[in-house]
Amino acid sequence: MAQRTLTGIKPTGMPHIGNLLGMYRPALARQQESECFFFVASYHALTTMRDPALLRDQTLDVAANWLALGLDPSRSVIWSQHDVPEVTELAWILSCITSKGMTDKAHAFKDAVAKGLDVNVGLYTYPILMAADILAFDSHVVPVGKDQKQHVEMTRDMAQRFNHLFGETLVVPEPLIRDDVATVPGLDGQKMSKSYGNTIEIFLPPKKLRKKFMSIVTDSKGVDDPKDPESCNVFGLYKLFATEEQQQDLAEQYRAGGLGYGHAKQALFEVVDEQLAEPREKYNELKANPDEIRAVLEDGSNRARTVARATIDRVRSAVGL
Ligand code: ADP
Ligand code: TRP
Repeated sequence: MAQRTLTGIKPTGMPHIGNLLGMYRPALARQQESECFFFVASYHALTTMRDPALLRDQTLDVAANWLALGLDPSRSVIWSQHDVPEVTELAWILSCITSKGMTDKAHAFKDAVAKGLDVNVGLYTYPILMAADILAFDSHVVPVGKDQKQHVEMTRDMAQRFNHLFGETLVVPEPLIRDDVATVPGLDGQKMSKSYGNTIEIFLPPKKLRKKFMSIVTDSKGVDDPKDPESCNVFGLYKLFATEEQQQDLAEQYRAGGLGYGHAKQALFEVVDEQLAEPREKYNELKANPDEIRAVLEDGSNRARTVARATIDRVRSAVGL
């Protein structure tokens, strides 16, 4: 069987450049060499979202992000998670072979408890639904940022346990986590995340995008002071977009003194804006034609459902249903 790549992202806000570097780009690059399944994790979003109109809107928005960034629907499959409800059946079956000890250890759940949040059962079983997403499609490779590593490891454990109990049925997947972009820093230097309010959204209009870059937190060194590029948040992001030559050039200017952080931020904005200009145009076109996005999602869900149905049939038969 051809190598299959699968990943998903929740429609809980507008995708940001942490998502772009940590997930979208590595995932989309795999379209050359493998069969790709990419989806909008709408069921997972329900663990936190309570606004139906916003959920609908953001589901389309995340799909538009996939398409604008290069997902080619003639070769890859894209759908909304809730249009393939087979995954919830698989999640139930997996939950019956997963020890509570495993889900107790999930970081996302533990963090929510530590923060004193009112934790729902969906958040607690989140890793099992994610495992079902991955296993329903016989995925070999799962491109994600580092924060999702534990979830893919739990998925591997569930697949191995299932195969041990019922015979070889499920493909055991591998995570794909690129070291250089495993944790992209946000405006304040912490991991960029929608939950920390420190994001730079991919498809902001140029003026707003520039403003975001200008708000990156730096130390208070003056223009003339020599600066250390390696400990600077602005340079940390610049490295992830600029060529080797551009990086060396800016690093020298940092060390020499005479470069203000405003200039470094402008250089960062320019390099990112140049890379985003074309996909931004595509994104704006798509957003103006939501029916086109809906049609692509519907076609994708039909293709995805056929694959998930076959896995569920295999799983049902393996367990005796
Ligand atoms: P957020 O943390 O902002 O809610 P998601 O959980 O929706 O982001 O993440 C979607 C994908 O993007 C996941 O694969 C996740 O690991 C990756 N990702 C999110 N933030 C970052 C980051 N700062 N650096 C690298 N990858 C990230
Ligand atoms: N949990 C992932 C996140 O928060 C989203 C996700 C759901 C996912 N199902 C998946 C990622 C399956 C990869 C594979 O970002």
